Amino acid sequence: MDCYIDLKNVEAEELKNVDLDKVDVTCSPPDFEPQRQYYFMAKCRQIVQSESKRLGRPLYACSVTFGCQMNARDSEKLSGILECVGYSAIDSEEADLVIYNTCTVRDNANQRVYGRLGVLHGLKKKNPHMKIALCGCMMQEESVIEKIQKSYRFIDLIFGTHNIFKFAELLYTMFASERTVIDIWKDTNQIVENLPVERKYPFKSGINIMFGCNNFCSYCIVPYVRGRERSRNPEDILREIKTLAADGVVEIMLLGQNVNSYGKNLAKPMSFASLLKEAEKIEGIERIRFMTSHPKDLSDDLIAVMKESRKICRHLHLPLQSGSTRILQAMNRRYTKEQYLALAEKIRKEIPDIAITTDIIVGFPGETMEDIDETIDVVKQVQFDNAFTFIYSKRTGTPAASMPGQVPEEIVKEGFNKLLKTVQDTARSRVSLWNGQTMPVLVEERNLQEKSLLTGRLSNNTIVHFPGDASLIGQIVNVRLKECHGFYYIGETAEL
Ligand code: 5AD
Ligand code: SF4
Repeated sequence: MDCYIDLKNVEAEELKNVDLDKVDVTCSPPDFEPQRQYYFMAKCRQIVQSESKRLGRPLYACSVTFGCQMNARDSEKLSGILECVGYSAIDSEEADLVIYNTCTVRDNANQRVYGRLGVLHGLKKKNPHMKIALCGCMMQEESVIEKIQKSYRFIDLIFGTHNIFKFAELLYTMFASERTVIDIWKDTNQIVENLPVERKYPFKSGINIMFGCNNFCSYCIVPYVRGRERSRNPEDILREIKTLAADGVVEIMLLGQNVNSYGKNLAKPMSFASLLKEAEKIEGIERIRFMTSHPKDLSDDLIAVMKESRKICRHLHLPLQSGSTRILQAMNRRYTKEQYLALAEKIRKEIPDIAITTDIIVGFPGETMEDIDETIDVVKQVQFDNAFTFIYSKRTGTPAASMPGQVPEEIVKEGFNKLLKTVQDTARSRVSLWNGQTMPVLVEERNLQEKSLLTGRLSNNTIVHFPGDASLIGQIVNVRLKECHGFYYIGETAEL
């Protein structure tokens, strides 16, 4: 006789090893996490299995990610659940279930989602049993939900950033409902551990160390859609890294909106520098990256830990946003041009081979050409290795949205192009510094355009393409950097 498992009696760490086909789903669901979600995975699995039997083929799920590394990591969690539920993953949106994990940091991200929803509607008309789900930052905005309810009534499930851990339960509710299921939370202090994750790359992984943001930069919607800062317990983070290392992961990226304030709100506070030191001790992990640092919170301790480390990558992403102290103040960034320059200089002095990259916004309310020139001056002085430049996008509900002084389009365009040119020049001169050297590269994938080439990254995050066999993917190999092409290199494998 089959023995049926009551998940209420299974320890959280053991849940991943449970055969979901043997779970007793006749009893009531556990009222605690993550057991409750595994119960709903088992329930959904039965539905997916019976539908698949009816159709005589597997059911396919397509998950599409918009936005940043946090969203990419969230999508790996969604994929982990979809796999447990019994879906086969595909890239095509002609699938039985399509889920969009959305971003709302700038309006063009929203517009892309609306555009693609039109296409999905066409697919759903051809295949009425298709399910469409939306989640992520954009769903935390009331105006978005209103618009979807009015103009996109074919959506089956909508949830936000705070209850993503409930995906299995929400899927089950969706299967049982004829109408759109909407579940958006305003905030949470809950962090649910031990849910399944399906990694995109076997050899590298993101790891959330904290969620949310408390900084309230005046242009930014993130604190409103991701909520207040919450740090994960170091024990949970370190256990996750050990499990990843045992599973073949060699590179980790610690993720948070502002990693430099990690641990401040823990019952037993711990600094980000100390967390890095602990992570560094874990055997099998060869490279450690992290994102994103706020300049106002970057400590001398962190610089010292990076300097001493063999594993922490020679890369710091340090968003500048603007080089004008006046604009920085209006942005509520809490540093001046001079403070940023002094910090960058200190980092370059302590760790000369480090790459510093940044984010810059052009067209913030009230910005003039003189302000943009200040930004260009910082780019020249710091010599960024790369910079992501964005045109200011007004986000409803943020303080900047009601600030006077909309910047005329000509100034934005002219300033943006001038800035981009400077960024390209500094990046080229920084990246080309390593020409002719042989450096370790973590091989990530086959080159998408030229199949005989592999693509990987240096410790400082510069991309390198070189001829090689796919068996090298996931390994760290020495590559001689032969030709610098601005942001990337062409190289060849070499002995050190
Ligand atoms: N408009 C333009 N860029 C923005 N960013 C955040 N909010 C906005 C906005 N409203 C940029 C910042 C941030 C990056 C992730 O996105 O530069 O560092
Ligand atoms: Fe947004 Fe500023 Fe928080 Fe970054 S630090 S997520 S820019 S509010």
